Amino acid sequence: MRVLSGIQPSGALHLGNYFGAMRQHIELQHQYEALYFIANYHTLTSVQDPEQLVQLTRDVALDYLAMGLDPEKACLFRQSDIPEVTELTWILATVTGKGLLERAHSYKDKTARGISPSMGLFCYPILMAADILIYRSNAVPVGKDQVQHIEMTQDMAGHFNTIYGDVLVRPEPLLGEAPVVPGIDGQKMSKSYGNTIELFGAPKATRKRIMAIVTDSTPVEDPKDPETCNVFALLKLLAPAEELPEWAQRYRAGGMGYGDAKKRVYELYEEQFGTRREARAAWAARPDDVEDILRAGARKARAIAEPVMEDVRAACGIVTGGRAPV
Ligand code: ADP
Ligand code: TRP
Repeated sequence: MRVLSGIQPSGALHLGNYFGAMRQHIELQHQYEALYFIANYHTLTSVQDPEQLVQLTRDVALDYLAMGLDPEKACLFRQSDIPEVTELTWILATVTGKGLLERAHSYKDKTARGISPSMGLFCYPILMAADILIYRSNAVPVGKDQVQHIEMTQDMAGHFNTIYGDVLVRPEPLLGEAPVVPGIDGQKMSKSYGNTIELFGAPKATRKRIMAIVTDSTPVEDPKDPETCNVFALLKLLAPAEELPEWAQRYRAGGMGYGDAKKRVYELYEEQFGTRREARAAWAARPDDVEDILRAGARKARAIAEPVMEDVRAACGIVTGGRAPV
C-alpha cells in the first residue's frame, strides 16, 4: 500500500497539524511505502512573500525531521520538485466540472472570511487531486477538514477513467484518532484562525497561550463537564491513557480550577515537544543535509510520477514527441 500526504508551509505547524496528520504520517512510515511533501504551490494562494515562503518550506522539513520522520523510510520532498504534478493538474481540470469546485467547503469558508478568490484558490482541489493521483496513492492520512478534497479527488479519478480508461487509482482518506483538534478559542485549530499552539513555540509564549485557552465560567467549586472542555480535549491527546479517568473524575467532582488542567497540558506539551527542540536545532544547523534529503525524496517521488504521467498522456492522446531540449 502506498500512503501519501502533504502539509502546506503556510505558517508555523501546530498541535492540530501534529495530532490530525503528522503523527500518523510518522507512524505509517514503519508499515507502508510513505510519501510526504511540502505543498509549496498550494501556499502561493496565501503567502506571496518569496523569502517567507522559502523559510516556511524549510521549517516544515525541520519539523518533520525533528518529530521523527526517518528519511531512510519515508520520502520527504517539495511539491514543486515534481513538475508532473502541475501537468496532471491541467489535464484533470479538463475533466472536472466547475460545479464540483463550487461546492468545496474550504473555498466557501475562505471566501466567506473575506479572502479574495484567485483562480488558484478556486482550483486548489484539482492541484491536490493531482498530488494524490500522480503517485497512484492508495491512502491519504489527513485531518477531517481535508476529507471533502479527497472525495473530490475520487470523483476526478472516476471522471478521467470513465473517459479514458482505467489509468488512475482511487484513493481513500485515512483519519487518525484526532480528526479535529480545537484551538485555544474552541474553533478548529488552524494557522488561519490565529488560535494555534505551535509545535515549536518558545516555552514562555506557549505557556501563555495554553493558560489563555477559552473555558466556561463555572466557579472552581462546581462540577465541570470534561467532554465539552477545550482543555480536556488537549489533555486527551497529550496525557497517558491511564491519567485521563483521574482528570475526568476531578472535573466532575468540582473543586478543581481549569488552571490546574491547563498547567498539566503545558507540562505534557513540554515533555513531548520541548524535548524535540534540540533535535530541531541540530537539523537547522545542517541545511545542506536537509536539502539533500529533500532532493533524494524528490528523485524517488519523480521516478513514480513520470511513468504515471506517461500513461495519462498516452490515454488522452497527448503526443509529446520527446520534450524539446533546453
Ligand atoms: P491549517 O488549517 O492550520 O492551515 P493545513 O490545512 O495546512 O492546516 O493542514 C495540514 C494537515 O493538518 C491536514 O491533514 C489537516 O487536515 C490537518 N489539520 C489541520 N488542522 C487540524 C485540526 N485542528 N485538527 C485536526 N487536523 C488538522
Ligand atoms: N490541502 C492540504 C491541507 O491544507 C494540503 C495538501 C495539498 C494535501 N495536497 C495534498 C494533503 C495531497 C494530502 C494530499 O492540509
